[in-house]
Amino acid sequence: MIRLALRVRREDADVALAELLALVPGGVEEVDLGDRVEYAVYGAPGELPDLPDLEAAAGDALVEIATTEVADDWADRWRAFHRPVEVGSLRVRPPWAEARDGDVVIDPGQAFGTGGHETTRLCLALLLDLEPGGSFVDLGCGSGVLAIAAARLGWSPVLGVDFDPLAVAATRENARVNGVAVEARRVDLRGAPAPTAPTVVANLLRPLLLEVARNGFENGNRPETLIVSGLLRDEADEVAAAFAAHGLVEGRRAAQGDWAALRLG
Ligand SMILES: C[S@@+](CC[C@H](N)C(=O)[O-])C[C@H]1O[C@@H](n2cnc3c(N)ncnc32)[C@H](O)[C@@H]1O
Repeated sequence: MIRLALRVRREDADVALAELLALVPGGVEEVDLGDRVEYAVYGAPGELPDLPDLEAAAGDALVEIATTEVADDWADRWRAFHRPVEVGSLRVRPPWAEARDGDVVIDPGQAFGTGGHETTRLCLALLLDLEPGGSFVDLGCGSGVLAIAAARLGWSPVLGVDFDPLAVAATRENARVNGVAVEARRVDLRGAPAPTAPTVVANLLRPLLLEVARNGFENGNRPETLIVSGLLRDEADEVAAAFAAHGLVEGRRAAQGDWAALRLG
């Protein structure tokens, strides 16, 4: 089993991590090295992401890459990184963690969205502020964690869309495991108006959020409430201004670490 570690500059680590998680949705081990942060992935030779893809994901933040052979207890180590995440009344856990009533269970191996990333946690926190009900769309649903949480909280019907077929399959499977009704569909948000509902959540990075704002919503129906996340704190004003063009006004801004999320409506 190989442990492949990328060391990145601390000041650019959050952005590098977001890009890495698109390649390694199951999650990465994080080690604090002072002015650098190490992100490690485990896998059998041939199962790891390609080096050029990892280098591209880490971008200018990359300092070095190191590979080491590790013992075959890697699966247990990998599992240990995925602990339950609690946001208010919501608890998101991997299948192997201790169960509690009402948990959202997400298998981290499948697509982005264990619930652990700040951008997802910010969305969950903003969702908990709302009065659940009516239809709901999750743009860039990844594992389906936000769509499933929304269904648990009382929104219906719930639709999750993603351009990655693995994410669509993971959302369907995770919805089944959680016993909630979530429709999942493959949609590329580039170049076409976004599916819409009275409540929409979009945890996407800045460029795609700006593109969604440019393309607008299907049939010109803007959401009553739109939660956007996946933006850095200093990108929040720009993204808020882009959606203001649709008459969506900022109602709340939340931040964790370098990340921010907005409730617009
Ligand atoms: C940051 S992840 C969010 C996943 C999940 N909603 C969460 O909050 O944990 C962003 C998701 O957007 C999807 N995505 C990226 N580009 C897309 C596009 N052009 N159209 C649709 N989905 C896209 C990715 O596949 C990924 O699953």
